[in-house]
Amino acid sequence: MKHGRIAGWGKYVPKKVLTNSDLERLVDTSDEWIVTRTGIRERRIAGEGETTMTMSVAAARQALDRAGLRASELDLIIVATSSPDYMLPPVSSMIQDRLGAQCGAFSLVAGCTGFVYGLATAQQFIASGAYQNVLVIGAEIISRNIDWTDRNTCVLFGDAAGAVVVQASDTPTGVLSFRLGSDGSGAEHLMVHGGGVVMPMSQRVVDERAHYIRMNGREVFKFATRVLARAALEAVEGAGLAMDDVDLLIPHQANLRIIEVAARQLGLPMDKVFVNLERYGNTSAASIPVALVEAIEQGRITENSTVVMVGFGAGLTWASAVVKMGALDRPRYALWRSIPGRARARARVAMRTLSMRAGALLLPLYARVTRR
Ligand code: ACO
Repeated sequence: MKHGRIAGWGKYVPKKVLTNSDLERLVDTSDEWIVTRTGIRERRIAGEGETTMTMSVAAARQALDRAGLRASELDLIIVATSSPDYMLPPVSSMIQDRLGAQCGAFSLVAGCTGFVYGLATAQQFIASGAYQNVLVIGAEIISRNIDWTDRNTCVLFGDAAGAVVVQASDTPTGVLSFRLGSDGSGAEHLMVHGGGVVMPMSQRVVDERAHYIRMNGREVFKFATRVLARAALEAVEGAGLAMDDVDLLIPHQANLRIIEVAARQLGLPMDKVFVNLERYGNTSAASIPVALVEAIEQGRITENSTVVMVGFGAGLTWASAVVKMGALDRPRYALWRSIPGRARARARVAMRTLSMRAGALLLPLYARVTRR
């Protein structure tokens, strides 16, 4: 059986920062309330021209670059998002086109849990031998589906994109086990009522602000603290491991208090738990891949690290995966990539100019030789 190694990873976060004090000017809230209830200090908001597609493509290019892979070598693209550019076409096809990939692509909706669902799906295509290289993206622009007059939700979310390349490998790395869960009986606790087939888009939907996310925070909180630790433990046991074997837990970055409860229930010290929600807020399906990328960049994940990812979200859904990291070096073009970015760009221009000049010189010579 083939294993699905995480061969590349990338992220994109918009430049615009929205702090808690910025929010104090929008709704009746305070930095103190947001920090003590959630742990969030600031979040990123997509700017004009930025869409789920453009952010996904930026994250994907970084992941492909790190994997030493061209987009044309991809066999499948899976995009987890609840905020696609359009209802139709699926944003996955727009991403496939912009990347220049020639493969199948589909979008997957499982709320904030989507990325882990995507990762587990990618692993199946690899394990079956069907595909070699699968790109999994988690990307959201939640800021455009948020009611900026509703303090219950607008302080929580942010925009971002994360991507990984899952590549077939003979060594037992990548997803060792996973658990997927769903309990639709809690659907009403996190919902966008308008814009679907039950309540198609209309003036009434807009007037009632039914096209925005509505959330029963307390119920989602209770649900999250009920499922998070259990899902993580089930995946760890499914991999034949114990919690002591886990090097890093990457939970969905929704609320620091939820994460701390889960860590306590699992008996994990917080230094084995990755948290970056203070800078990004809840970026839904992007939260876990962005955290994964930052954990690697910060050296919190190294070769052979055992990582547990666990998410929860709308549906209600939850999912966990145990991932063994393989080699983190860049297999191809390693020397080229070791050159700093600006120097690399200059070298690329110089090489292009040189090859054009050489072409201009050689062409008349070639024409003269072939005329004889
Ligand atoms: N600023 C100030 N006060 C606020 C704010 C705010 N931004 N938001 C709510 N309040 C008020 C409420 O109105 C309430 O006032 P009341 O007691 O007079 O009614 C009070 O604060 C306390 O509200 P609670 O709901 O009890 O606050 P709680 O401690 O539960 O924290 C929170 C609220 C942060 C939303 C928490 O419940 C939570 O994080 N829940 C989980 C949410 C989540 O993770 N959602 C994402 C799911 S993933 C996905 O798929 C999108």
